[in-house]
Amino acid sequence: MVQKIGVLGAGQMGSGIAHVFALKGFEVTLYDIAAPQLEKALGSIGQNLERQAKKGAISQGQVAETLQRISTTRDFPALADSDFCVEAVTENEALKLEIFSRLDSVVQPDAILASNTSSIPITKIASATGRLEQVIGMHFMNPVPVMTLVEVIRGHATSDATFAVTRELVAKLDKELALSQDYPGFIVNRVLIPMLNEAIFALYEGVASAEDIDRGMKLGTNQPMGPLTLADFIGLDTVLAIANVLYDGFKDPKYRPCPLLVKMVNAGYLGRKSGRGFFSY
Ligand code: CAA
Repeated sequence: MVQKIGVLGAGQMGSGIAHVFALKGFEVTLYDIAAPQLEKALGSIGQNLERQAKKGAISQGQVAETLQRISTTRDFPALADSDFCVEAVTENEALKLEIFSRLDSVVQPDAILASNTSSIPITKIASATGRLEQVIGMHFMNPVPVMTLVEVIRGHATSDATFAVTRELVAKLDKELALSQDYPGFIVNRVLIPMLNEAIFALYEGVASAEDIDRGMKLGTNQPMGPLTLADFIGLDTVLAIANVLYDGFKDPKYRPCPLLVKMVNAGYLGRKSGRGFFSY
């Protein structure tokens, strides 16, 4: 019976993951190395819960109860009694391997360790632990409270029991699951990132303006955001990192990142989070 959830990383994804678990009644321990990041996370969770309350999706009582179920910590051992951990730190393989190795030594032996990685192989992450069967990918979409999908990735050694517990948690969160095997980009980014990269190539080659590319795709294919707006929303550094995972993983030139994307990341134009990407914010 999973009751206590550990969430590692209090950025946009970690905050959203803590939000949805706490809203559904789980006790959440949110870990980050930086105190200001933890404070910021609680602030944004509060704001997003208020947003849901204003729409009538949840009550004011639920806002308060949800916030009460989230405790924050900078101490790794505070995660020790978690039944299920979801790691959502920066998309950096070395960092994730270190975190999983530390988690493995701290968290109770029957706990499951999940990663919200958008592209790093789950089997590789699992290899940093002594519990390969209990490691799984649980990839939430941004913004987590709004998006219905959780992409679940089975590593090479992930057990049926680990998958069954994860599937049950996704259902308890009122979300839908798409199951992927552990290959570069899984399902969503395998298909999404080449589309975003192609939109950037269209801009780079002068096919159309950024506005027209986005208008074309938004109104022509009924997407909520045009591809360049979505790339800015995800973060151009993240889009580039995932494009490189596809390129390196398949060794196929069709996945090569557009030089304009590389140049923009080098210039620090990272999209919405830096105030400037294909558009200004
Ligand atoms: N928390 C809670 N609610 C939120 C929220 C948040 N963080 N952000 C938005 N909302 C709610 C709003 O309250 C609003 O609710 P109602 O419609 O019920 O009133 C609804 O979401 C829509 O929000 P807005 O009206 O503010 O804005 P919008 O209509 O432009 O929608 C959006 C915003 C939901 C982000 C929409 O544009 C969208 O779906 N965009 C595409 C998002 C997407 O593709 N995400 C996946 C990215 S890929 C990924 O995450 C994987 C990866 O590894 C890179």
